[in-house]
Order: sequence, then structure tokens, then C-alpha cells
Amino acid sequence: MSADAHIPVLLQAAVDALEVESHDNGTFVDATFGRGGHSRLILERLGNGGRLIAMDRDPEAIAAAREWRDPRFFPVHARFSNLRTTLDALGASSVDGVLFDLGASSPQLDDPQRGFSFRFDAPLDMRMNPALGESAAEWLERASEAEIREVLRGYGEERFAKQIAKAIVAARRDRPIRTTRELAALLAATVRTRESGQDPATRAFQAIRIHVNQELEELSLALPQALAALKPGGRLAVISFHSLEDRIVKNFMRAAARPNLPERLPVRARDLPSPKLRVLGRPVKPSAEEVAANPRARSAVLRVAARLA
Ligand SMILES: C[S@@+](CC[C@H](N)C(=O)[O-])C[C@H]1O[C@@H](n2cnc3c(N)ncnc32)[C@H](O)[C@@H]1O
Repeated sequence: MSADAHIPVLLQAAVDALEVESHDNGTFVDATFGRGGHSRLILERLGNGGRLIAMDRDPEAIAAAREWRDPRFFPVHARFSNLRTTLDALGASSVDGVLFDLGASSPQLDDPQRGFSFRFDAPLDMRMNPALGESAAEWLERASEAEIREVLRGYGEERFAKQIAKAIVAARRDRPIRTTRELAALLAATVRTRESGQDPATRAFQAIRIHVNQELEELSLALPQALAALKPGGRLAVISFHSLEDRIVKNFMRAAARPNLPERLPVRARDLPSPKLRVLGRPVKPSAEEVAANPRARSAVLRVAARLA
């Protein structure tokens, strides 16, 4: 596999869930293009009158998308928290399906220069869009010990969050932590127990990445915009890789699938505001074969819902 490749996770299940063939002249959104594994299959199933809008916040992902020559395909460099304005700019007021395949792509994780990985030595960056916001190194240089601890604990479920935050603040008094190797060495010295098959840096790197990219905030902002953009019958499909992401998706879908009962008001059943989504099926997880072929799939969960009228 080339260094620039990404093996799509739950490819068939996620694209099947969008029911592209039933709306083959419809408009679909791939909110996380990556290297386009899901987009490619959507285009295979889309008719000549259909449209696929592909978003990614990563300039390298969008550069790859812009190489595609297909009149039905519209790559957009944007965060998916800007879904509404992206659709407005393209005159796509409503759509037939939206797919989110969350987290980082293999090209991001495997390119040493992006600073996502403790496997290589590189400037500690971790931004999906390196032109925006604060790098991981900049954040670690200025964040309070309490903030670092909370990020490690909250997003990484890191048991040694307190010790690591303390060690980072002590280390930066001498000099700032600027590289992945410096951070990985600090973590190896601070994380006292070893989980089998897992580097001691895994949890902290994941937590810092989620924080630097505001991944949970992005998701919380995007889901209501996706729901509002869907036509009746349109599909929302979300693949998540982290328990906190999955919880946000699950709670969002469940809440939208319930009639919204105003608290303490005596409302007759027929007067209840109608639900906006119907949750379809149970969460889908990759098969053992898929996980064996692509270890990145191991924590993936796909949830699907359909827009009600
Ligand atoms: C797991 S990869 C998607 C892989 C893709 N489905 C494929 O088959 O190649 C996730 C992608 O979503 C992008 N991404 C993550 N958060 C984003 C956000 N808030 N807005 C837009 N793109 C985002 C990342 O830059 C990354 O390229």
C-alpha cells in the first residue's frame, strides 16, 4: 500500500446505508473525504444526474480530491461544522444522504511530518489543517496543568493523566516539548503500566489530537446541520472510532427520534411535535476479517438513521 493510501472502514455497510441507487440522481455528502474510499463507491452507484459533495478540513485530502475528474463530484476544503454554509454556497438546499467517517486518516497518521504519530520523530503538530489553530506543541507549551490533565483523562481515559500533566509542566520549565519523540519519551517514562499491544503513548497522543482538532465539538456542531439538510427519507450514516464520539452520535440520533415533549406541559399524544429521525437497525461493527485486514477498524461503529418527513 502506498504511503498516501487509506483503507476505508465499513465501506459496503456505510455506502449501502445511504441507499444511493434509490436516489441515483440525488445529492450526497461525504463530510470526511480522506482519500475517497467511500466517495469512490458512492460515485459508482450514483446516476449521471447525481451530485457528490466531498468535504475535508485537510488541505492534502482536498488536493487529492481535486485530482478526480468527474462532473458529478464537488470537493470542498472546509470543516464539517460548516456543512450548512458549504451546501448553501453550492446551492444544495437539501440532500439525500450524509456520511461521516470520523477520526484521522492513514495518510495523516502515517506521514511523519504531520506529527500525529509517536512512531516517527517530527514536529509535534497533529492539526488536520496545519494552517489553522494551535499545534499540539503550542498547546502543550501554554496549557495549564489542570487543562492538560483533563484532556488526557477525558479524551484518552489515561489513568496517568495527573502524573503526565505534572511531568509536562515540569519538563517545559527547562524547554518546551517540540517533537513527537520528546513527548513519547516523557510518556514512556511516566506511564507506569503497560497495556498489551499498546504503546504507552497511545492514549495521550489520541487525547491531544482530539483536543487540538476540537473533534467532539466539530461533531456536535455538524450533526444538527446534517439533519436539517436531509430530505425526508434521506440517510445519515456515521462511523466513529472513539467511545465519546459514538456516544454523541447515539444520543443525537436517539433524541431526534423521540417526540420532543415540552417539560411539565400536559400535551396530548397527537399534539406532540413529531420526531425528525428514525434510527435504522443496530450499530454495525466490522467483521473479524475486516479487523484482521485493517487493525484501524477495530473500534469502528456505524450508526444509521433516516430523516422523517
Ligand atoms: C477516517 S478519514 C476518512 C477516510 C475516508 N472515508 C476514505 O475512505 O478515504 C477522516 C477524514 O476526515 C477529515 N476530518 C476530520 N474531522 C473533520 C472535520 N471536522 N471537518 C472536515 N473534515 C474532517 C480528516 O481530515 C480525514 O481526512
